Amino acid sequence: ALLQTHLSGDQVIVVSNREPYIHEHADSGIVVKRPASGLVTAVEPVMRACSGTWIAHGSGSADRDVVDAGDRVLVPPGQDEYRLRRVWLSAEEEQGYYYGLANEGLWPLCHVAHVRPVFRESDWEAYKRVNQRFADAVVAEARSEDPVVLVQDYHFALLPAMVRERLPQATILTFWHIPWPNPESFGICPWRREILQGLLGSTILGFHTRFHCKNFIETVDRYLEARIEHEHSTIAFREKETLIESYPISIEWPSPEQAAGWASAAECRQRVVGRLGLPTDICLAVGVDRFDYTKGILERLNAVERLLEKRPEWVGRFVFVQVAAPTRSALEEYRSFQERIERVAERINQRFGRPGYQPVHLLATHHEHDAVTELYRAADICMVTSLHDGMNLVCKEFVAARDDLRGVLILSRFAGAARELSEALIVNPYHVEETADALHRAASMPPAEQRERMASLRGTVREFNVYRWAGRMLADAGRWRLRSRIEARV
Ligand code: F6P
Repeated sequence: ALLQTHLSGDQVIVVSNREPYIHEHADSGIVVKRPASGLVTAVEPVMRACSGTWIAHGSGSADRDVVDAGDRVLVPPGQDEYRLRRVWLSAEEEQGYYYGLANEGLWPLCHVAHVRPVFRESDWEAYKRVNQRFADAVVAEARSEDPVVLVQDYHFALLPAMVRERLPQATILTFWHIPWPNPESFGICPWRREILQGLLGSTILGFHTRFHCKNFIETVDRYLEARIEHEHSTIAFREKETLIESYPISIEWPSPEQAAGWASAAECRQRVVGRLGLPTDICLAVGVDRFDYTKGILERLNAVERLLEKRPEWVGRFVFVQVAAPTRSALEEYRSFQERIERVAERINQRFGRPGYQPVHLLATHHEHDAVTELYRAADICMVTSLHDGMNLVCKEFVAARDDLRGVLILSRFAGAARELSEALIVNPYHVEETADALHRAASMPPAEQRERMASLRGTVREFNVYRWAGRMLADAGRWRLRSRIEARV
């Protein structure tokens, strides 16, 4: 209802690299998969609520087999609530735009993750070309002069200005799902001005936290001739004004029907313990991530090792299960990271394991949402130790899954979510001693304290859910549209 109020019949077009549904060929025919993506988790419920068109890169082996002549397919499969338009990229375009500029350049640049960003001229050319192709798709989809276009993430920094040029009346809401670094860090990017100018084609540019907004405004101040109104958080560049605002992203809070369909926490525990062959009377900690060097998986393992080292009473009684979905494996940095994690897990298991006891279980495959919910409900502890993260939705999903008010969240202070979820045990993942101590504290936390903390965390996530995120952004856009209409009249 909130979304309908703000949009009142306006056409909504979402643009993202990752598609919400991937069609794959399998032995049983065509199967549909959901990608491991915080962006998709957050944007999909909004899209289902307001219909419209989602434009994304078609990446599944059967994607082309299910689309119509306009490259569109209705989704969710069987429910047909909105249109997914696929853009087909050549292997060369995907290499340069996605693997190259987006994931070897902008990803480490913005996360300041101690992985040196790579800037190749050929990647930049592919990035510009692909941004233009997606901008063309937006223009082709637009049924009016002023659609609402929701641009997602660092794959499309140039697209807002490209769309603005062709649809000057469009309301372009761009959301940057990853952090924005300080001006010095961003300044090493050879195309810093072009990227800033591209983003300033947006009507509203959103980040997860005020801190990232401030970094962006300071970056513009450093590298462009623009007028900044700090009081209103706006930037005027070439006669065009952009609002820079923080909108902390979130998840869809599970409906009572969904929650009623979950197996009890005890049942989930039994299933997980049975499947992995774990001893029954243990403290179970879990981590759920993409296999990405920004997620602090290595630091997490180091903390587990340190816990077993300094508190031998946990040896045989503490198990850590890490679900890590392989990601961007075409990049050497990601492949070697995964190998390194596998080596460290093996080392810990050799050091502390014994017959019938393996302290670390590394499940390096993609897990569907239901399997992850089961794991969350089975766990005593959830570890989120990102070295830098725009928001992080795993911690919010864990909290949403614990209607039994049990379980302890350990959360990195470098994840945007730490600003909201202060009842978690907040840690600096670079500090192994502190993280190991937090693990001990979590593992020994009395049920009453768990309940108190979890109830408060759940209150926050329930209230500040993904509809609040989208609703606030769209309400700001609605006010902006109204103001432009009024100004056009005078
Ligand atoms: O939220 C950040 C993000 O990069 C999204 O843009 C993306 O969908 C997700 O993480 C997963 O990454 P990828 O789509 O590259 O697998």
